Amino acid sequence: MSSSSADERTLVLIKPDAVRRGLVGEIISRFERKGLRIDAMQTRTLGGDLADQHYAEHVDKPFYPPLKAFMTGGPLVALVLSGDQVIDVVRAMIGSTDGRKAAAGTIRGDLSLSNRENLVHASDSPDSAKRELGLWFPELG
Ligand code: PPS
Repeated sequence: MSSSSADERTLVLIKPDAVRRGLVGEIISRFERKGLRIDAMQTRTLGGDLADQHYAEHVDKPFYPPLKAFMTGGPLVALVLSGDQVIDVVRAMIGSTDGRKAAAGTIRGDLSLSNRENLVHASDSPDSAKRELGLWFPELG
């Protein structure tokens, strides 16, 4: 596994449904086999304030209350992954939002049947990665 100063970082959340279903190892293993590096990892239960900050662009949407209840309802695993073009690479690996429509071969396409309980969150752009990494892992700077 090589690294360079051009490597990006992204925030990945392995959501409470994945923890409950015993899929954490399977999901992390996919990222490791791809050649991505784990720079930080922690298990925690998301509080309501951080949920509102993390999902700031969605807090007024009708799906937000059940999404918040789900995301704060049990432990999740937060990861910082790095590698060449890691933001786009991880988004491709997790697949589209709705597990019923996500392509086979992606994490959601293979393992989820839901657009809420869809196993993984990953930053969708350099700006959102910077913002989300600052919220979840401020110590990384
Ligand atoms: S949007 O509106 O297109 O920007 O939304 P999207 O990027 O597809 O999804 C944003 C996050 O909201 C979750 N989501 C939902 N939760 C519950 N119910 C419904 N209907 C729903 N639709 C979207 C979705 O899982 C996304 O979570 P993250 O953590 O960002 O992957």
